[in-house]
Amino acid sequence: MTDREIELENENIEVELLIEALVKKHGFDFRDYSRVHIKRRILEVKQRLRYESISMMIKDIIYDREFLNKLLLSFSINYTEMFRDPDVYLFMRNEIIDLLRTFPFVKIWHAGCSTGEEVYSLAIMLKEAGIYNKTQIYATDFNDKVLKMAEDGIYPIEYVKNYTSNYQQAGGKESFSDYYIADDNNVIMDSSLRKKVVFANHNLVTDGVFGEIHLIMCRNVLIYFNKNLQDRVLHLFKDSLCNGGVLCLGTKETIENSTAESDFETLDKKLKIYRLKY
Ligand SMILES: C[S@@+](CC[C@H](N)C(=O)[O-])C[C@H]1O[C@@H](n2cnc3c(N)ncnc32)[C@H](O)[C@@H]1O
Repeated sequence: MTDREIELENENIEVELLIEALVKKHGFDFRDYSRVHIKRRILEVKQRLRYESISMMIKDIIYDREFLNKLLLSFSINYTEMFRDPDVYLFMRNEIIDLLRTFPFVKIWHAGCSTGEEVYSLAIMLKEAGIYNKTQIYATDFNDKVLKMAEDGIYPIEYVKNYTSNYQQAGGKESFSDYYIADDNNVIMDSSLRKKVVFANHNLVTDGVFGEIHLIMCRNVLIYFNKNLQDRVLHLFKDSLCNGGVLCLGTKETIENSTAESDFETLDKKLKIYRLKY
């Protein structure tokens, strides 16, 4: 073995031990997250916080709560934006809203909502379609810090140009500026958009199903999981949806070749929108 191969082997052992320490000490279970993703994040934190070795990080996972929070934040990339992939929202507006309209009461679950931008996006669309008042939205994530930001609904003003353009491409009917007030640095989303939203901590790896949901949006979350965990979470969604309920994944995610594939019909292959069969 070359020196580099030995170094890599040692590093991989340390990564496994770090993942074990997280589950044993804190119950955070990343054993089924993509190893490539987790290892890349661990090495990034090691370098940024100037750790000598991954083993030294394991010690701090056990004894230093502050470090744990930093590590968790770096594991779950929280990037999101309003009306992200506008085509998806356009499809929602044109095809899914009318389906939701047929129910007397609509329940929606945003799983892995991060800082809340997609929750506000959907609330705006539902409002414009006139069905917001009969909707209940559950917005969940396993990271309390991003959930608090989602609940506050305050975003940097420099993002707004992009969000406005996304809103228009997604078929927005009004002026996007109707939905926020701005100060020098931030925009604050209109509180009416939160009226029907419950923000709650939910871990897709360890927590249970939500009942009788009509639409689940879980975008850009499964991408971090390995095949085994993706299958498990897709079954969690299947069990949470009512018959005919809709599942919307991220554009790089799919139910194809999963053990839940035969339970769903495809509404749009490219946009990754599926419907639970009756
Ligand atoms: C890239 S963001 C996606 C945000 C939004 N859905 C979007 O598509 O723009 C991924 C989110 O998944 C959350 N996440 C990762 N693992 C999770 C888990 N096991 N349970 C719940 N949320 C999780 C992260 O905290 C993060 O906020």
